[in-house]
Amino acid sequence: MSESEPKRGFPRWAHGVILSVTAALTLLFPYRFSRILALDLEAYLYNQYQFYLLMPQEWADWGRLAVRYAAVPYALLLIAALIYKASARVWSAENPLAAIPRRTARWMGAAVLAPVLAASWLYAQALSMWLAVEAFWWIEWYAAIYPTMEQILYSGPIFVTPGIVTFSILFLLWAWPRAAVDERHSFVLRALRGAFVVIALPFLAAVLAGSTHAARVYTAPGIDTFENRCEQCHARSQPLYYIKTPAEWRRTVDRMANYNLPPLYEGPEDAVLPFTQTEKEEALLFVTAMRSFSDRWTFITRCVRCHTVDRFGWENRRPEDWARITGRIARWSPYYYRPDVRDQIVHHLTATYSDSEATHGLDREQYERWMRLEARCASCHSLSLEADRYRKASAKELDDMVARMEERMTTPLTDRERTEIVQSYKEAIADPDVFDRVFPHDRPTEGETAP
Ligand code: HEC
Ligand code: HEC
Ligand code: HEC
Repeated sequence: MSESEPKRGFPRWAHGVILSVTAALTLLFPYRFSRILALDLEAYLYNQYQFYLLMPQEWADWGRLAVRYAAVPYALLLIAALIYKASARVWSAENPLAAIPRRTARWMGAAVLAPVLAASWLYAQALSMWLAVEAFWWIEWYAAIYPTMEQILYSGPIFVTPGIVTFSILFLLWAWPRAAVDERHSFVLRALRGAFVVIALPFLAAVLAGSTHAARVYTAPGIDTFENRCEQCHARSQPLYYIKTPAEWRRTVDRMANYNLPPLYEGPEDAVLPFTQTEKEEALLFVTAMRSFSDRWTFITRCVRCHTVDRFGWENRRPEDWARITGRIARWSPYYYRPDVRDQIVHHLTATYSDSEATHGLDREQYERWMRLEARCASCHSLSLEADRYRKASAKELDDMVARMEERMTTPLTDRERTEIVQSYKEAIADPDVFDRVFPHDRPTEGETAP
């Protein structure tokens, strides 16, 4: 680049526009996400402190501040560099960052990178928290959840930290105009590129899980209300230890709003302020976005895990029938499919696969009779238990069997019910294909063990 060449630079006002857009974009995206990340990190650090007494409690505050602000200068420089790069192409004007002498450019880059690199472990920890929160809705099957969550929280940062380090360096170099960087001879750069390929996968997994978490929280109002009001009686990150359904959160927040307590610690305020209705709704929306999942996502985690493709062939069903089908799978993990989770699934299925008149090939009277049969007989075991043996049984054997079962029931059958049950049972087990269509999930898939 020679000194004498005239530069077709941007008009002066264009710099103003680019810098304002940069500031706006930084506030709107990286900064807002950092705020969410910071809360998640805070929850993790306080949790470590409370359960394991691993570190002084104030560290959580420093960690939160670091995650919130460390990347701001980096984001400003990166976004400005990207806009200059893009607009230089469009207007074929010269990129003023390219005019910065290489030495100065290096110092600038190092100055904005240093805080990001210093906080990279904290970012990685917060991202692992996002990963763990997302994973929770998939793997909460019985007790397996706790070791899995701990695994993610402890080993996540080991993979994610190098990802953040290499990604932040490479991204800045890529955005920076070529003239300012001499990368051909850089051994470090080549090593970083190589390393990135190796660590890219776990890092991208974290980013992907992070983006679903962030997308949910990003649009939720109430972060200020949550930060300022939910800490009046306990650490504000305490609610973030829990993952609940939206209905469960509503009950919790209602309980909180009804408390009439003095502060539980020596805080700056003398009295706990009551929540206004708006504050209550805002805090609820925020904590729900942070720590619960939509009906659709709940359906995907709970049902699509087995029904990847075949759900597209499902018949429409009555809402009660969806509740029964979901209830049957809940025999395997009553907590994973607890009532509030089942409500979410049924709500989703009612919106997507609903027909309030469906009878699945039976006539209406017969369908309702079969449903009464299930209500009476499937509370202790699957309806089709030993059905193969009873398919060709005599009327007397069926009567005797139902009589034996009746002895176990708390409410005895009326004569009409008894006759009806024998008839319905005989019909229902007669054809296994028809049975499966009307009572999906009745039988364990492999013997009597959980699927
Ligand atoms: C007026 C004091 C007060 C305020 C304000 C408050 N909490 Fe609580 N919170 C408590 C007390 C007391 C407990 C422990 C007893 C209990 O669980 O009800 C608690 C416990 C909790 C728990 C754990 C128990 C559970 O149900 O899972 C969660 C979660 C929680 N609070 C969330 C929140 C949220 C979210 C906010 C802000 C909307 C909030 N709290 C604001 C007093 C308060
Ligand atoms: C209160 C719990 C309970 C209810 C309700 C119940 N059962 Fe049972 N059922 C059992 C138990 C326990 C066994 C296993 C013990 C055994 O083999 O006798 C069993 C076994 C069976 C068997 C296979 C063994 C046998 O006895 O032939 C069939 C078939 C059966 N039940 C059908 C039904 C039908 C039909 C109904 C509805 C009328 C029903 N059950 C309601 C508890 C119940
Ligand atoms: C552990 C694996 C598993 C999970 C989880 C599961 N299902 Fe199933 N589902 C099956 C199997 C296997 C069948 C076919 C055999 C049967 O009916 O038991 C089936 C059958 C069905 C059918 C009938 C299929 C048809 O073509 O009409 C429906 C509807 C259904 N499931 C809905 C659900 C819903 C809703 C959920 C979530 C609450 C769910 N399933 C969760 C394994 C699963």
